[in-house]
Amino acid sequence: MTTTLITGANKGLGFETARRLIAAGHTVYVGSRDADRGRRAAEQLGARMVLIDVTDDASVAAAAKAIEVDGGLDVLVNNAGIESRSEGNVVVGAAEVTADMMRTVFETNVFGVVRVTHAFLPLLQRSAAPVVVNVSSGLGSMTRVTAPGTPAYAYPGVAYPASKATVNMITVQYAKAFPGMRINAVEPGYTATDLNGRTGTQTVEEGAEIIVRMAQVGPDGPTGGYFDAEGPLPW
Ligand SMILES: NC(=O)c1ccc[n+]([C@@H]2O[C@H](COP(=O)([O-])OP(=O)(O)OC[C@H]3O[C@@H](n4cnc5c(N)ncnc54)[C@H](OP(=O)(O)O)[C@@H]3O)[C@@H](O)[C@H]2O)c1
Repeated sequence: MTTTLITGANKGLGFETARRLIAAGHTVYVGSRDADRGRRAAEQLGARMVLIDVTDDASVAAAAKAIEVDGGLDVLVNNAGIESRSEGNVVVGAAEVTADMMRTVFETNVFGVVRVTHAFLPLLQRSAAPVVVNVSSGLGSMTRVTAPGTPAYAYPGVAYPASKATVNMITVQYAKAFPGMRINAVEPGYTATDLNGRTGTQTVEEGAEIIVRMAQVGPDGPTGGYFDAEGPLPW
């Protein structure tokens, strides 16, 4: 029996990942920072719900305690994430970005990943086949954002790609430190969710594909990698 926590699973890619992993036989905790939204999602999915705000030490510690008492964890999907957009769903570019905006995005997308991973490490280390999936983005790829003529090159935001490049680095460093775990970063692709005002061109079913696949890698699977549904990505 595999037990899986997905942060930010009350909607979007996290919700779809939960649906698919439950279908694959996982016991899934839907992580939600709001109790009502989380409960509704968990009821719809037939999942368990755990209250977890990835920006809050006490919330993350309480979630780890609750899941430990319930029996432990095998798979952690660090999915919760935010983007920096202003009025009218406009991505905040280099002319407008402030240190405060950077801090807000990093608090969730970067420090949140470290906060949650750190809290759940002891549980994962007790699993026979521990797996961590960090939901990154193609915008975290230096190679992609510096390739003229591509959508990644044209993306003007600063905070979000910087946060996801950091997630990639975190992934590599954790993977080297914990060779007994499978720890990978994934790029779902541009997907219609609330994150981008539903402007994404893929469905959540398509976007969740690589998250679901990497959540199910066995002990012989890759670690320290960066993948989309087509395969490995350039850093
Ligand atoms: N959509 C895309 O095109 C795309 C592409 C590449 C990567 N991604 C990544 O995919 C992941 C999921 O995004 P999505 O597109 O599914 O967006 P979404 O529909 O906006 O979902 C984001 C989820 O994260 C949760 N969340 C935000 N801040 C949180 C916090 N402090 N603590 C706990 N949960 C928090 C949200 O909860 P609330 O409902 O409470 O706000 C929501 O459940 C993100 O890491 C994103 O960067 C998305």
